Amino acid sequence: MRLAASMAEEFRRDIAEAEATPTAGYPELVRRFRGPVPETGGDAEDIIRELGELARNGIRGTTAPRFFGWVIGNSHPTGVAADWLTSAWGQNAANVQAAPAASAVEAVAVEWLLDLLDLPRTASVGVVTGATVANFVSLAAARSAQLRKVGWNVEADGLFGAPPIRVLIGADAHTTVYAALKFLGLGARRVREVATDDLGRMLPGDFEKALGEGEGPVIAIAQCGQINTGVSDPFHEIAPMVRDAGGWMHVDGAFGLWSRSSPKLRHLADGVELADSWATDGHKWLQTPYDCGFAIVRDAEAHRRAMSFSASYLPPANEDERDPSAYVMELSRRARGFAAWAMIRQLGREGIARMVESNVAVAQAMAAGMAAIEGAELVCPVELNQFMVRFGGDCDVEEGDRLTLATVQRLQKESIAFAGPALWRGQWVIRFSVSSCATTMEDGAITVEAVLSAWKAVQAGA
Ligand SMILES: Cc1ncc(COP(=O)(O)O)c(C=O)c1O
Repeated sequence: MRLAASMAEEFRRDIAEAEATPTAGYPELVRRFRGPVPETGGDAEDIIRELGELARNGIRGTTAPRFFGWVIGNSHPTGVAADWLTSAWGQNAANVQAAPAASAVEAVAVEWLLDLLDLPRTASVGVVTGATVANFVSLAAARSAQLRKVGWNVEADGLFGAPPIRVLIGADAHTTVYAALKFLGLGARRVREVATDDLGRMLPGDFEKALGEGEGPVIAIAQCGQINTGVSDPFHEIAPMVRDAGGWMHVDGAFGLWSRSSPKLRHLADGVELADSWATDGHKWLQTPYDCGFAIVRDAEAHRRAMSFSASYLPPANEDERDPSAYVMELSRRARGFAAWAMIRQLGREGIARMVESNVAVAQAMAAGMAAIEGAELVCPVELNQFMVRFGGDCDVEEGDRLTLATVQRLQKESIAFAGPALWRGQWVIRFSVSSCATTMEDGAITVEAVLSAWKAVQAGA
């Protein structure tokens, strides 16, 4: 264990200067790890040393300060340390009896979460692997409640023969929400997509039209923080329509929900509190290590009904106790509450707000710096921490795509900073996500220089 700790410390100490892009490719890494099944055991220290050696330069620098790919938090050292203890303690955080401290810490972490995000304090929270599963769990509760209203018990009778549920979803929703619909038997394709504006926000007019197109149970899926633009849906306009239709409004707020933690930014998620359920991540803006997400449901009874099950050997919690597994899909599970609690304790309300605000300020400065590069274009204004840049100036779409993809490839190759490509409105862009507590203004400035250098190299045909 000591060896692993010192290897981890060394890794984190060197990460700022390490290559942002792994230099070992997948085939080489598989070759390194592969071999016949070991017939005999080995020495623990040798095994850990070997593991470090084999994984070397195959570890992506997601904890580096200039990592802007996808939406990835920093795995803060305090969270990592709490996570080590979690593994060492080896708790099965299914229920109070099996894991009293893990159950207690999770109960407090989720109370703190509701306070920080200013969501109904009586809501129930499932601590899951991430926003994908948080969307699934929340929508399972929605499915249960909406079908119950029309006299159908989906937990007992399934979906065969059930009254159809209408699902309304913004046309720029995250792909994982469609995945959740697929897993739930609601169908990724049998949805009514609501038209969106240039930034990906649902148009209230089309939402109203969609709502009027049929009858029966409704689940409306909104988002707080679009993956490319960072914007949120107009909750104040949508939520009353859903309520009047007797529907359920779910919000995917994987990262955007954390703007609620900042007095300066919370207006960006105004009205999100009107929803019935919310999905968010801990491993993004709370900086916990992977994995950690939260499924938050206003109707705790629907949440428990959708998720809980019983057996003679699983004694139910007392009334004043909370079994973690009653709010998630799994029985045996990691005690994620320790790291979540530790990260909220580490940063505090003020620290979380300051970090989110700082990430947003760095995103704005980076975007302004890149917009000033000749031949670069900021694809839309920076609302939160996500922004997109495209290269090519006045050239046609195809050439712009080629130049943009060549620039991002070059940026990744130079390895001073990392960002990835994305498709937005049919055109390739480079998407930056500023979501790490390690990122400073200086990192932003270095990244602008790296992007300029990559673009110049592409122009020079390098
Ligand atoms: C808006 C949104 N929803 C859902 C997800 C999925 O989150 P996870 O990968 O933690 O399951 C993401 C991930 O980036 C996201 O940005």
